[in-house]
Amino acid sequence: GEAVVRRDRFAGGPARSFLSSLSDDERIFAADLAVDRAHVVMLAEQDIIDRETAGEVLAALADVEDAGHEALPDGEDVHEAIESAVIERVGPDGGKMHTARSRNDEVAACIRYRLRADVLDLVETVVGAREQLIEVARAERETVMPGYTHLQPAQPTTVAHWVLSYEQALQRDTARLLDAYERVNQNPLGSAAFAGTPFDVDRERTAELLGFDSVAENSMDASATRDFLVEATSAVATLATNLSGLAEDVVVMASKGHVDLDDDYASTSSIMPQKKNPDTLELVRGRTGDAVAGLNGLLTNLKGQPRAYNRDLQRAGRHAWDAIDSVTESTAVAAGAVATADWPAERLEAAAADGFATATGVADLLAMAGVPFRTAHEVVAEAAAQLGPEEDAPEYEALSAVAEDVLGEPLSAYVDREALSAALDPTESVAMRDSRGGPAPDAVAEQVSVAADALAAD
Ligand code: ARG
Repeated sequence: GEAVVRRDRFAGGPARSFLSSLSDDERIFAADLAVDRAHVVMLAEQDIIDRETAGEVLAALADVEDAGHEALPDGEDVHEAIESAVIERVGPDGGKMHTARSRNDEVAACIRYRLRADVLDLVETVVGAREQLIEVARAERETVMPGYTHLQPAQPTTVAHWVLSYEQALQRDTARLLDAYERVNQNPLGSAAFAGTPFDVDRERTAELLGFDSVAENSMDASATRDFLVEATSAVATLATNLSGLAEDVVVMASKGHVDLDDDYASTSSIMPQKKNPDTLELVRGRTGDAVAGLNGLLTNLKGQPRAYNRDLQRAGRHAWDAIDSVTESTAVAAGAVATADWPAERLEAAAADGFATATGVADLLAMAGVPFRTAHEVVAEAAAQLGPEEDAPEYEALSAVAEDVLGEPLSAYVDREALSAALDPTESVAMRDSRGGPAPDAVAEQVSVAADALAAD
């Protein structure tokens, strides 16, 4: 019949394999079978095709499913190949399956159906990662470590406070993915090529059968848009960027001996016998490129496409699949590496005092005693400038001399020896910073409990 004529005329020649997405479409093979089934059931319920034919088509689809994607006949794409396979089994009546639809609404439905599962998979992985990070926070609440800005020693903090900072980011990544999910999970079926159909299709019914939460309303938009792919991939790229910061931190920590990775998450050198390298985290960092490339590739593919469907769209999905696969793996690996690492507490605490990282606490002390903070900053900055190359903090006397200079009064008018030595101690310094969200163990305990509640809700 006509299908054969169409194929004879259009599917041959040197561009045949260039046109085909059949091998890529393995990703949506199962989705296409689900979409076919829902459509056929709806067609029968609406008396658009008879029930006997519908039954034969459904039986043929089950058979096609058993045979698998590799067994499909040749075709331009999985939709055409499955239809041919159904017609092979049912005869010409199998061609009734494609009543009141086009491959345009069909492929859009397949992509959404598959992406939905992939997004949920990733959400599950991110939630698992958050759970692991919260565990680390619970265990390392008192583990003082150096905190940095500009990668310069800044103020002492704790491993728990640091790790929770990434848990917060992953919490937002979860929300971004779920937000994208809402707009992924809409039904484009029933839009046909773009212009609707004269058949009395029931779009709510196929939505229900396929588990879509709503119907994508306008048929021209529904068949052509891929902005739901952009939203999902953008959330993936944001997640990847957050993970890359975590990975970079751990790489830097490893280079200073501030973390000891489990052997499962480290590599060695083929030549340098002493090496233990943080390759897993470097790959997490590197895979950010996959996600950003995916988002970039996708946006570039979509830019300037006119309404309605264009074949460019056949190259859109792959960007999202690559990004999501790559980052789902990195999420699990990054969390695993952090969860199994060892944090050498003594070494970290010693490092936390490096570079007069307690200076802000000393200025805070002066300010608490009534010195304007700007003036206190000046006193401590001057004392810091006078430090010898081996010194990490000024002696009481040295600071007092500067105080005399700047304030016209000795340090003892404001701060005694005991208070100064507490401020210079990294552990005490952390304990003092108990403002909401701060690194003091009590403040972190509160953050852990808020994070655990949010986790339970997700
Ligand atoms: N395989 C195509 C895609 O992935 C769907 C086919 C629509 N083809 C067409 N010529 N309208 O986008």
